[in-house]
Amino acid sequence: MSLICVADFEQRAKQQLERTALDFYRNGAGEQVTLGQNREAYKRLRLRPRCLRDVSQLDTSCKILGQQLNWPLGIAPTAMQKLAHPDGELGTARAAGQAGSIFILSTLSTCSIEEVAVAAPETCKWFQLYIYKDRSLTEQLVRRAELAQFKALVLTVDLPINGDRRADARNQFSLPPHLRLANFQDELMQGFVSKLGGSGLNEYVASQFDPSISWQDIKWLQQLTQLPIVLKGILTAEDAQLARNFGCAGIIVSNHGGRQLDTAPATIEALPEIVAAVGKDLLVMLDGGIMQGTDIFKALALGAQTVFIGRPALWGLAANGQRGVEQLLQIMRHDLEITMKLAGCPTLRDIQPSMVVHESSYSQ
Ligand code: FNR
Repeated sequence: MSLICVADFEQRAKQQLERTALDFYRNGAGEQVTLGQNREAYKRLRLRPRCLRDVSQLDTSCKILGQQLNWPLGIAPTAMQKLAHPDGELGTARAAGQAGSIFILSTLSTCSIEEVAVAAPETCKWFQLYIYKDRSLTEQLVRRAELAQFKALVLTVDLPINGDRRADARNQFSLPPHLRLANFQDELMQGFVSKLGGSGLNEYVASQFDPSISWQDIKWLQQLTQLPIVLKGILTAEDAQLARNFGCAGIIVSNHGGRQLDTAPATIEALPEIVAAVGKDLLVMLDGGIMQGTDIFKALALGAQTVFIGRPALWGLAANGQRGVEQLLQIMRHDLEITMKLAGCPTLRDIQPSMVVHESSYSQ
């Protein structure tokens, strides 16, 4: 089968991945309502194209946190990428660099901060942070990201505990013995096995992550580091305003790919209230359910300045390592270009809110 769209890569990955890894990657929380809606909500939005607007020259470039990027799509942090392919995070980070995209490294990666820095020196890299109960350990992660020239900290704020991921519980999800959480030296922290008969990852998160974190900890982090702080997992105007008031550099509108609070809104549904509240003075980004050029276009039209993909990158990696992620990014880039041309938008600035309407406005 030739691979011509993200869904093809997903199909291929489903054939290739071992069941436990596939279940960990593809599933959401609870009844997976939010997981499904992340994609479905895009289908309820219609595009209003404009014509005769000279689309012979296209410019998809953008500047995010001072960094010049080829186009407004980056790679969201996803844990344990060596479950997909031995290239792991090194392959994804290099592919992101090739595409001129941001790469966000997860705290729970199977290649270390330093390994990624050496393997992908040219890539614009951000580090995703979880705050551990052990604050000195957390501080060390921040220092290492700074030293390794990562350009921003992405603090994930929607995971005080793990969501109810039923497949992982059934599979008693554990990290295979040949892999390790590479950012940790302590053997206890390098892996997890199910001891209580459910998901081993759940047990790891419950024992290690600090569920008491609050807005005061944003201040704690700010006095630790000069790096810009981006909050990932914001879904309401209220929290977006707090993020702005606490001096964060940006937010990622995200529901963790439907893996945390089930029946939380699709991210594209949550975006408008957030943009209305803070869009003028805070960098607003989004992830969740992005599969094609029209999805990227709709998120940009509704006010996101860039978007990120989680699972699609994992499907690319599973299909063919670094090369697979490169191919997938090329396909998505091309698809965005087609969309921009057909909608009459030679630059990102031309993508306007009026170009996206809910389907209900056509059915009256
Ligand atoms: C994630 N996500 C995630 N987020 C984060 O902040 N730290 C992490 O370690 C992980 N790990 C992770 C693993 C897997 C397998 C998935 C699917 C997701 C969430 C991720 O960054 C992002 O929010 C979603 O994946 C976006 O949705 P899509 O693109 O997968 O639909």
